[in-house]
Amino acid sequence: MPKSQAVPWTVYDMATVGKIGILSDIHCPYHDDVALRAAVDHLHEHKIDALLLNGDFADFYSISRHEKNPKHRNFLAELEQVQQLLRWLRGEFPDIKIVAKAGNHEERWEKWLWQHAPELSTSPIMGLDNWLALKELGIDLVSEKRIIMAGGLPILHGHEKGNGISSPVNQARGAYMRLHHTVLEGHGHRTSIHSEPDMMGAETVCFSTGCLCDLRPAYAPLNKWNHGAALVSVKETGEFDVENFRISNGKVRTS
Ligand SMILES: [Fe+2]
Ligand SMILES: [Fe+2]
Repeated sequence: MPKSQAVPWTVYDMATVGKIGILSDIHCPYHDDVALRAAVDHLHEHKIDALLLNGDFADFYSISRHEKNPKHRNFLAELEQVQQLLRWLRGEFPDIKIVAKAGNHEERWEKWLWQHAPELSTSPIMGLDNWLALKELGIDLVSEKRIIMAGGLPILHGHEKGNGISSPVNQARGAYMRLHHTVLEGHGHRTSIHSEPDMMGAETVCFSTGCLCDLRPAYAPLNKWNHGAALVSVKETGEFDVENFRISNGKVRTS
């Protein structure tokens, strides 16, 4: 039998007991600066111990496979703005662990390389972590669609499940229907929660977090998105509490 080439798919553990701030779908440089500021201020108020950028922190519009407006195609400028965002976040939270998950938008980088520069694509120099100077900023990049664990809470960006999974009514319920497991995810740009007990009374809870990007992008000016982020408190036992907050007109709304 030939040796299997399959690579084990492992989880990434935040290894944090305490408070973890989760910012998802910033889509820099198409972020909403008021919402992002409000989310960061809220995380400061709660003195977070770690920060997770849960995917789509960069938009990478210029290297998307979708049709692009030539007016906005300046990838180097976009890259510089993403670096600026990451430097700003490191400045806001100088002493804590920061982890960045690659969402579908960050994956555009690798896909673009495979398409346009396949011979260079496997060089470590071409890695997104290198181009964004993540090592210098002390930011861990989690790619390959790995699950991130915050105590007992598995976190996904949301694109890992493949296409056609989003629920038109409630994203968290859509995640439940697909995974039948407790999870927190972004990607759908909508705040929602769904809890359901199994036959023996064990509870599963799914959360989807809001986004921190422009709510009226040219490609989808009418949508069901809302601003929001999350604060996860993890106990030593792995038990967790989630504050899945919305942001409306620059104000944090916790219920
Ligand atoms: Fe997104
Ligand atoms: Fe996404």
